[in-house]
Amino acid sequence: MSNPIRIGIAGLGTVGAGLIKIIQKNSNILEARAGKPIKIIAVSALSKSKDRGVDLTAYEWEDDPIALAKRDDIDVFVELIGGESGQAKKATEEAIKHGKHVVTANKAMLAIHGQELASAAENSGVNLRFEAAVAGGIPVIKTLTESLAGNNITRIMGVMNGTCNYILTRMEDTGLAYEEIFEEANQLGFLEADPNLDVGGIDAAHKLVLLSSIAYGTQVDFNGAILEGIGRITIEDIKAASEMGYRIKLLGVSSLSDSGLSQTMRPCLVPLTSPLAQLNGGTNMIIIEGDAVGQIVLRGAGAGEGPTASAVIADILDIARGINIPVFGQPANSLIKVPAISTSVENSFYLRLNLKDEAGILAKVSAALANAGISIDRIRQEGHEKDAAPVIIVTHPTDRDTLNKAISEIEETSAAIDPPVVLRIESV
Ligand code: HSE
Repeated sequence: MSNPIRIGIAGLGTVGAGLIKIIQKNSNILEARAGKPIKIIAVSALSKSKDRGVDLTAYEWEDDPIALAKRDDIDVFVELIGGESGQAKKATEEAIKHGKHVVTANKAMLAIHGQELASAAENSGVNLRFEAAVAGGIPVIKTLTESLAGNNITRIMGVMNGTCNYILTRMEDTGLAYEEIFEEANQLGFLEADPNLDVGGIDAAHKLVLLSSIAYGTQVDFNGAILEGIGRITIEDIKAASEMGYRIKLLGVSSLSDSGLSQTMRPCLVPLTSPLAQLNGGTNMIIIEGDAVGQIVLRGAGAGEGPTASAVIADILDIARGINIPVFGQPANSLIKVPAISTSVENSFYLRLNLKDEAGILAKVSAALANAGISIDRIRQEGHEKDAAPVIIVTHPTDRDTLNKAISEIEETSAAIDPPVVLRIESV
């Protein structure tokens, strides 16, 4: 029998415990597929005594994940600690320095330090794999780095945060306000410790920028991504969108053009007929468009014990099989640095304006749009509240910069009581 591949696991939360369960339950399958046993040597977490529903007695315990990362008797360091820097990054660096392969689920760390860590891993001749970091159980990293490697990828789109999708679809199903469903999601334990990572679009943008890097051969650029969360979406927006044949999704979109890389993560309207609109609850969906393959749609659980551990074990198996693919699909030193741009593609936009209910106010709004050369496709005013008139406008296609000019002019006239809600209508 071949020598086992020996692993050390740092972080025994939901995913860590799930990984141990898979390794214990499926050991024969894993050994047959890897051609060698997968053996856990040691584990590390904050509390040794906590009951995680898995038997850890066969494994050595390390209080310090960095000590685990450096052990002579492991081949693969599995980083499930989380967090952009701190222990997770230090342990990852130490593992790489000591010639260990690394498997991680840490999107935040890679979105910020991906280029540096990829270079370090490739210089040390080790693998750094991260299937679990993007969309949990959906095999999107493998799809991009391997299955679609022959394509010029033209666009990536997706719903990459299950919590936001849960909130938006529950608002639509129940007719309840954002705040109430946010609290429900909190009670169900869906929200990250810092909920803004979810509802502010940060977690999803971490995932999008990793996909962009592989898709376009560019250096990971989280700071260049344009983010907007779902906190200003009201039940009225959801109803109005639905009546016009759309559904609101926190949608990531990236594309590369001659002028640069556009990466946006913000609420958008998608047609009810699009696959994205069919996505309910905490599920994720990623749509990839390539010049040869056309459009493909990947859908599945974006989080949770089984799905995320499924992605981690797949990376471990690949390492055991001797598969060695550059971290972002091509050598880190060949990834190009490109300017971040806001998309130049023209779209229709949905605007919700809370206007003063006075004579001539609507004329000021339409004049501002006309001055910017923006044509109105649809307009609706109903449901007055005190002295406010909620107005919904759908524009004909225009670009965001032009729309921003019109919005600035609207704001200068003091016609609107609140800043407008602006949602792009994405063609999918
Ligand atoms: N909080 C994330 C989500 C899962 O709701 O999809 C981890 O990225």
